[in-house]
Amino acid sequence: MINVQTFKKRKQQQQQISMVTCYDNWSAKILNESRIDCLLVGDSLAVVMHGFDSTVHATIEMMELHVAAVVRGAPDKFVIADMPFLSCSKGLEPTMDAVQSLMQAGAHAIKIEGAAHQADLIRHIVEAGVPVMRHLGLTPQSIHNLGGHKVQAKAEKDALLLVENAKNLETLGCFSIVLECVPNKVGECVSKRLSIPTIGIGAGPFTDGQVLVLHDLLGVDPDFNPKFLRRYANARDLIKEAVDHYHQDVIAGDFPSLMESYG
Ligand code: KIV
Repeated sequence: MINVQTFKKRKQQQQQISMVTCYDNWSAKILNESRIDCLLVGDSLAVVMHGFDSTVHATIEMMELHVAAVVRGAPDKFVIADMPFLSCSKGLEPTMDAVQSLMQAGAHAIKIEGAAHQADLIRHIVEAGVPVMRHLGLTPQSIHNLGGHKVQAKAEKDALLLVENAKNLETLGCFSIVLECVPNKVGECVSKRLSIPTIGIGAGPFTDGQVLVLHDLLGVDPDFNPKFLRRYANARDLIKEAVDHYHQDVIAGDFPSLMESYG
């Protein structure tokens, strides 16, 4: 299993890191048998699994349940759990309670969105022995502030600020940084300046690893077509066809056969 030490080694050896989201037990069991390096129980589960319109609706209780289900299904994978909306913004004690919940649900590390204002908090979590991955660039929990899902750090001053933030996070002890929706050059520049690996999503080919939402790479939603997405399957049609086939068999009296029944 990859861990925070091997994360760094991978970067030194210029070996890419693969990460994918995972929210439930049945997909965790499949991913446990795959060669993927690590699993992210992302707060995107609020949208993908619960049908909300943004990740703002994820709660610590939701995250805890999903983390536990994933860890039970994927005992051989390094599992990172997202700290949900505002869970790091209500002071040290509530934050540490939330961190404790996710770690005791079985996560091996946590991911926190946002930038500069939480230096003391991050240092405290890291010093408490919890590996922290940070998320910069497009941070969907701040969607109302950002005015939509837009590419970030396009202007030079914003790019420089992002590089500075990333450097500070490395100094604070974060073991990795997710970079979401930034220009290729920014992804490359941040990655070159850090000794910890960057994991990109819509951040171009020059980061130290990549992450995608599992449902997106499987092609569950044909209407979700961001530029950075590569689909590896058409799960929507596959599932629909299988269920329609089952329906047809039931209606026609073809299922179950006597072979599929108890004597
Ligand atoms: O919640 C999530 O799925 C994420 C990834 C998109 C990086 O944060």
